[in-house]
Amino acid sequence: MAQYKVGVIGATGAVGMEMVRVLHDRKFPVGELHLFASERSSGKKIATPFGEIEVELFSVAAAREMDFVFLAVSGDFATEFAPQIAAEGGAIVIDNSSAFRYDEKYPLVIPEINPQEAKKSRLIANPNCTTAILAVALYPLHKNFGVKRAIVSTYQATSGAGAEGMAELENETKKYLAGEPVKNEIFAHPIPFNLIPHIDKFQDNGYTKEEMKVTWETRKIFGEPEFKLSCTAVRIPTFRAHSESCTIETEKPITPEAAREILRKAPGVKVVDDTAKLEYPMPLNATKKYDVEVGRIRASLVFEHGLDFFVCGDQLLKGAALNAVQIAELLV
Ligand SMILES: NC(=O)c1ccc[n+]([C@@H]2O[C@H](COP(=O)([O-])OP(=O)(O)OC[C@H]3O[C@@H](n4cnc5c(N)ncnc54)[C@H](OP(=O)(O)O)[C@@H]3O)[C@@H](O)[C@H]2O)c1
Repeated sequence: MAQYKVGVIGATGAVGMEMVRVLHDRKFPVGELHLFASERSSGKKIATPFGEIEVELFSVAAAREMDFVFLAVSGDFATEFAPQIAAEGGAIVIDNSSAFRYDEKYPLVIPEINPQEAKKSRLIANPNCTTAILAVALYPLHKNFGVKRAIVSTYQATSGAGAEGMAELENETKKYLAGEPVKNEIFAHPIPFNLIPHIDKFQDNGYTKEEMKVTWETRKIFGEPEFKLSCTAVRIPTFRAHSESCTIETEKPITPEAAREILRKAPGVKVVDDTAKLEYPMPLNATKKYDVEVGRIRASLVFEHGLDFFVCGDQLLKGAALNAVQIAELLV
């Protein structure tokens, strides 16, 4: 099998570090691995499953030498550099930011749903974490029962805001417990023992951008520009793995048992739904797992044909690194 030159840009961040682990774990055919970051980290040696690797200072020229580049920096960084890296003769770029997700020129791919899109461009967008976790469970239900509308509330971990988000939860919780004043820099309000119904910027329609991302991206990935989905996104004081409560109304009659049967066969999904044994999806159980857990599946009390369910998924894996590596696997 061919071996590839692989670059991870933003390799010292929350997503970048997972990316390296997933590449190793899934035996992606890595011939050479290059880790790139800014001048803050270049020259540092970091331990990886591939051995100790020195972080290199990012440059477009060095990134263009790669076969595959996984980009895990900001949207502004991606807007400036991703097209230059991917231009003819450069690397195939899989970008984790939101910079290209809503541009029709670029595919937005979840391999379990729309793998055929991946080959259409040298620059491919990876979806928002909340969207990816929901969509792997929602899509099989949509295919089988026809989802007319979906209403979602999220419970999102601090690592969704990067390594600094996790650090703010840890440091400020220690201060809170010590009776010291608590501050907030990454989040809009103090996060210890709180929850914040505000992720990303408020839009003119009253939704936040994080909430609109779930609607816009689900529509693009499902190939249904009119798909009806409303989301409320909430930050909670956990470290890792996002949870989402979802209510759907379907065209066809749907029962919890029929939904479980479909979801048991769905790729990337694990049904965890035995209330007698107190088994249901939870962030601590979903952490570091590839599959998205689905449970609390029950018939809707509101819709004639409808269902309520709860999902939990590791947003650094299916919501970022795993999905990105799965996209690259479609292209080798
Ligand atoms: N966290 C999540 O759950 C999640 C999920 C899906 C998508 N995403 C997206 O993935 C991207 C990365 O997020 P993250 O959470 O991993 O962020 P993060 O933990 O803050 O990491 C950011 C990374 O970018 C690097 N970087 C910053 N400026 C740079 C520059 N000028 N040149 C080269 N490298 C630079 C940093 O390197 P230094 O060490 O040099 O600072 C660091 O490695 C974002 O677009 C985010 O929206 C995040």
